[in-house]
Amino acid sequence: MTVTEREFALNLDAEDPLARYKDQFVNTDPNMCYLDGNSLGRLPKKTVEVVNNYLLNEWGAEVVGGWGHWIDEAQATGDLIGRAVLGAGAGQVLACDTTSVNFYQLVGAAIAARPGRKTIITDAANFPTDRYILQGVADRMGLNLIIIDNESPGSAECERITPEILEPYLSTDVAFVTFEVIQYRSGARTDIKAITELVRKYGGLTIWDASHAAGAIELNFDDNGVDLAVGCTYKYGNSGPGSPAWLYVNKKVQNSLQVSIQGWFAQADQFEMGPTFEKDNSIRGFQIASPSIVGLRCINTAFGMIEEATISAIAKKCATGTQMMIGLYDAWLAELGFTLNTSREVLERGGHISLVHPDAKRIAVALREFANVIPDYRTPNSIRLAISPLTNSYVEIWDGFQRLRDLVATRQYEKVTTEGSRVT
Ligand SMILES: Cc1ncc(COP(=O)(O)O)c(C=O)c1O
Repeated sequence: MTVTEREFALNLDAEDPLARYKDQFVNTDPNMCYLDGNSLGRLPKKTVEVVNNYLLNEWGAEVVGGWGHWIDEAQATGDLIGRAVLGAGAGQVLACDTTSVNFYQLVGAAIAARPGRKTIITDAANFPTDRYILQGVADRMGLNLIIIDNESPGSAECERITPEILEPYLSTDVAFVTFEVIQYRSGARTDIKAITELVRKYGGLTIWDASHAAGAIELNFDDNGVDLAVGCTYKYGNSGPGSPAWLYVNKKVQNSLQVSIQGWFAQADQFEMGPTFEKDNSIRGFQIASPSIVGLRCINTAFGMIEEATISAIAKKCATGTQMMIGLYDAWLAELGFTLNTSREVLERGGHISLVHPDAKRIAVALREFANVIPDYRTPNSIRLAISPLTNSYVEIWDGFQRLRDLVATRQYEKVTTEGSRVT
């Protein structure tokens, strides 16, 4: 059986231990190939019930009294995220705010923890919000921001930052280094353990953005000696648009770090409402303010499903699914002008692959318009295609690739007249 036979995907589905989860999500169009779970995951049916129940029976019925048991939910939900996907023991993760805010908070804390050091490092292919925040912080604080070039030809394999690429930039002037665990565009996976250890040799901290990794691969933060990390919950986490993000601060460094915005939830005796700030010793010392309880309940449901399914089974399905995608690329798409911009090594990628094509933007719009396939386009020329293990079947991916092949082989995509949405 070869990958180009539909039976190949159907056989994988027949043996898939996660197949039963697909029906636990809302799907109003069974003919759609949704290959964008790495941008926004699907809605779990149970979330509808849980949120309704919360609205009516908690907010509605309990009103302000509800805060008596809602108050510490950012920590409880953080612990769940830690257990389900991060490989983090209790008391190190908070579910709160956005990835951008959490990133800004940890950046400020890392700079303050390395007084006198004036250099911070990231890479050109990093997600825009991270780069923009770093630029702002560097400008305001007079820091030297090094942006490693991993985009121009020959600079790095599929944007992948390795210890060999990073080391020449390191010195004892570096306060912290920050990269994505999985690059948002190419899907390259960075070796978090090797990079963290290398930076530590120079006395610096490492901040990981795991937005494209959480819920797709095994992260094992505690075992890998990670200091600091952030990420979102709305991609492979299936917790909904704008659901609270998370931050991870390893217990070993919690006492030596103070975030920039010291809000009232971080106060040791919060309801004493005293005149001066005294940071709480627990992970709450990193929380700014009131959590969105509705958002947390969405996370609890979706990450509860992930915990039950197990991140090891999920990671395995990502590996098999992306392998099938690469097989289909080789068989069908390479000859149609596509180039694979993701590693063929399973440990160097996550749950999505990136295909480069000179007409990528038009093809991405045409896939939605003519073929009922949902990918996303990333500037300047790539289409991202993902497997979200709880919500995708293998055959859904296979059908999506077949439709992509036909759309480009027949040049039907050239008939696209619209620009598509502002959101790609
Ligand atoms: C890698 C990465 N970091 C940060 C963000 C921004 O997340 P937020 O809008 O929650 O701040 C995203 C959003 O997609 C992302 O992919």
